[in-house]
Amino acid sequence: MKIFHNKTELKKSIQALKKNQKSIGFVPTMGALHQGHASLIEQGLANDAIVVVSIFVNPTQFDNQEDLVKYPRTLDSDVALLKTISKDRILVYAPTVEDVYGKDVVSMTFKFDGLEHEMEGRFREGHFDGVGTILKRLFEIISPDRAYFGEKDYQQLMIVKKLVEKQNIPVEIIGCKIHRAKDGLAMSSRNVRLKPEYRTAAPFIYKTLKAAKEKFGTKSANKVTEWVESQFADQELLELEYFIIADAQTLKTVKRKHNKKIYRAFIAVYADDIRLIDNIALN
Ligand code: PAF
Repeated sequence: MKIFHNKTELKKSIQALKKNQKSIGFVPTMGALHQGHASLIEQGLANDAIVVVSIFVNPTQFDNQEDLVKYPRTLDSDVALLKTISKDRILVYAPTVEDVYGKDVVSMTFKFDGLEHEMEGRFREGHFDGVGTILKRLFEIISPDRAYFGEKDYQQLMIVKKLVEKQNIPVEIIGCKIHRAKDGLAMSSRNVRLKPEYRTAAPFIYKTLKAAKEKFGTKSANKVTEWVESQFADQELLELEYFIIADAQTLKTVKRKHNKKIYRAFIAVYADDIRLIDNIALN
């Protein structure tokens, strides 16, 4: 399996592949790969001849230095996992910060038509500018035909679609279903950091989302939100940061339900110092 730490070498390889009419899929990651990533890569391999997997903990999208420092970095085991998926159709790009950013490790500023101000945007200052910056650079380096993103980060997925539309980046963005552990916990690189008692408590998040979906059939968004908040008030190990029912397109919090609109519930929870997010389609 080819591992590139340098964008010039990677670009050369990709150009050669493109000359041979090979389509390029792209799965951007921050490493600590798990089955959720594996499922994105498998979807990529089903559509594209080659899948480039980037492994890069992007400093500009962290609003919390400690989170950045503690973010797991596990390149060897990541590569081992990738080899079990395909030995010859995956290219790994694991750059240094300098290879991607040069000397200027700063974000550009983007306008994503208001999507950036909702939910994660309210709680993580500058996060989506950092995500937009790194993805714009990676799209320029890799020039993929398609890029695959998980619906776990649904807001990110919507913002990436907006990014490529506004910046005229010629790539098709494919959203992929959330991959869950058997007990329902959405797969995340952060899960490995959960202490056992918190790992045991965490499936309550998805259980509550499913119950909220059920209630949303007959109750108002406000009532469902109050109910979820009351459920978390009784949880000792999980601290609710937000639960929001939003329009799935605009991500604006719903005040009153309309029959023709599509809604989703979004949640962010602290388990100890680890922040977990999840979401569910409501209708
Ligand atoms: O979802 C992630 O892991 C990151 O936000 C991404 C898309 C790899 C950009 O750094």
